[in-house]
Amino acid sequence: MKTRRIIKLSLVVASMSFAGASFAGGASGAMLGNTCAGCHGTNGNSLGPATPSIAGISKDYFVDTMQAYKKGERPATIMTRIAKGYSDGDIKQMATFFAGIKFKSGAQKADLAAAKRGKKIHKKYCEKCHENGGTSSEDDAGILAGQWKPYLQYTMADFQAGREMPKKMKKKMKALHKKKGDKGLNDLFEFYASRK
Ligand code: HEC
Ligand code: HEC
Repeated sequence: MKTRRIIKLSLVVASMSFAGASFAGGASGAMLGNTCAGCHGTNGNSLGPATPSIAGISKDYFVDTMQAYKKGERPATIMTRIAKGYSDGDIKQMATFFAGIKFKSGAQKADLAAAKRGKKIHKKYCEKCHENGGTSSEDDAGILAGQWKPYLQYTMADFQAGREMPKKMKKKMKALHKKKGDKGLNDLFEFYASRK
């Protein structure tokens, strides 16, 4: 699954040019942000299951994430290469641009029985940091509600591959796994997928 995702993305990348540098100086966040539309959708609302929507994420989360990609601290199939093409100033401008756009949930089906269980699990294990049912991107976390299910699953693989997981989140994940096995996480992702 992971391999297929990489191959598909490489094709997209090969057909695009990341001319981040050519915008240097005076480029607006919107102009810079448009170069991301091929994958993240127009205005940051992604249409594809392996790519997250980035509209509405907090400025802090955006900047931290792009810097982590740039430095190679957050593993990724593609973003580590892309982020290198943008200056710190570009990244700040894009952060303001994307933070100002409304996040739209991906149009996807969800298993409603599982989502109901997931809702309870979310409250108990995740709500503390992923507030308002995972719709908030405050506290330096991304948006979970309405994000594509496959992307959420890939993030778990990325955490295993070395993306730093906040200590307390790790603790909650462990507790959840102990209690419910892999099914708990699946229920959670169905819950996020069910959010409109
Ligand atoms: C070729 C496709 C592609 C392009 C172009 C692209 N991205 Fe991404 N982006 C991805 C994928 C796939 C991920 C998931 C991480 C990974 O595997 O690279 C991602 C993840 C992200 C994330 C993390 C979101 C989260 O919730 O944690 C941010 C932020 C982001 N991209 C910003 C951008 C910006 C800004 C641009 C334009 C300058 C851009 N991306 C261009 C494919 C792309
Ligand atoms: C102590 C706070 C905390 C708790 C509790 C927590 N998280 Fe997180 N979570 C975070 C932060 C902070 C990040 C962003 C990490 C980073 O900067 O890369 C994150 C990132 C994530 C991501 C990746 C999002 C993306 O767009 O890439 C997922 C998925 C996630 N959390 C799911 C969960 C689930 C499910 C639970 C409950 C079992 C949970 N988290 C509990 C703080 C928390």
